[in-house]
Amino acid sequence: MFSSRTPKELTTNKLTKIIEQKKLDNENLLDLTQSNPTSIDIIYPEKEILSALSNPKALIYQPDPKGLFNARKAIVDYYKLRKINIDIENIFLTASTSEAYTLLFKLLMEPGDSLLVPVPSYPLFEHLAQVEGVKTINYTLHYDGTWYIDFHLLQSLCKKNTRAIIIVNPNNPTGSFLKKNELAKLIEFCKDNQLALISDEVFCDYAHYADNERVSTIAEVSEILTFSLNGLSKAACLPQLKLGWILINGQGDNFYQAHNRLEFITDLFLSVSSPVQHALPELLKLAEGIQEQILKRALSNYSWLKSQIKPESVCSLLPIEAGWYAIIQIPKIVPEEELILELLIKDNLIIHPGYFFDLQMDGYLVVSLITKPNIFQVAINKLLSRIG
Ligand SMILES: Cc1ncc(COP(=O)(O)O)c(C=O)c1O
Repeated sequence: MFSSRTPKELTTNKLTKIIEQKKLDNENLLDLTQSNPTSIDIIYPEKEILSALSNPKALIYQPDPKGLFNARKAIVDYYKLRKINIDIENIFLTASTSEAYTLLFKLLMEPGDSLLVPVPSYPLFEHLAQVEGVKTINYTLHYDGTWYIDFHLLQSLCKKNTRAIIIVNPNNPTGSFLKKNELAKLIEFCKDNQLALISDEVFCDYAHYADNERVSTIAEVSEILTFSLNGLSKAACLPQLKLGWILINGQGDNFYQAHNRLEFITDLFLSVSSPVQHALPELLKLAEGIQEQILKRALSNYSWLKSQIKPESVCSLLPIEAGWYAIIQIPKIVPEEELILELLIKDNLIIHPGYFFDLQMDGYLVVSLITKPNIFQVAINKLLSRIG
């Protein structure tokens, strides 16, 4: 665990040390940060996965900077199932979404350039940008019952050397989707400021309920230069297989130049292994059954959690539209850092403070909704009885 404010780092190191010591002492830790789908008792179709990975075609090396045709065709079919038509030539395979980000930073930016990133959100952007020599400018997502982008603020944050804006849709940990009216404004904003739009859509298959106002992907947006990111890590809950993808869209010279250059960059690395590329069509077919289990787990943990936070409680549960996380608002009497240390030391409870995801205000805890239900319930009971 790490984060960007200095006190956080100190607390995090302290937390990590305590966790390690408790593990050495064989203490029974209750982990509410568990987001690794392979260790939460999900039933994977093991035989089918292993058989897909042992395709003899993988014994032949056929490098292709965009990725093997059949693997990209499987991605076209993945979108087709969602009634979205994409051009197979616009897909580039990567080893992960994290790698996709660094490839896009290389593509779109020179050292010293900047990009706009949402907060609260996935806490890796600052670090991924730093290793590419580019700077992140945080734009805060506001909350007043729903999460939304403040477009006036966005404009004031945009600098001459700002090249792109990232959205995480649906966002992690707020579980909020971009809305159609926000996408229209974002497109105008990108046009006015000549920015590329990067949309991280790894949680797009985990909507908790339907809503016509939301944007589930920007894959078909072509008025500006866009990049939709997704991958097996969440789409099939197979992060260990290391396969993600970038879907580029746009028009005119800007698009063709970016497309050619992205092909040049991916050709330098050729980072996706042949076995996983050959397995992709089968893996994406298996994904639905795995997603169903995860979504069922997230929905039932969320609804149980909701039932435990009574109207008279000092805590409240923020509503979510999608994803694997929930945010609990707690009284600001004790700083988050102190509270999570106390929970760890006294209750063996591991929990993310809001600041881990750059939630700007004190008084929020983030819990993973894919935690095994028995652990989730014991842990939440301990948490609620400590907070009161
Ligand atoms: C929003 C978001 N994007 C990307 C990732 C990482 O994906 P990958 O394993 O493909 O790098 C995560 C991981 O939790 C995430 O939450």
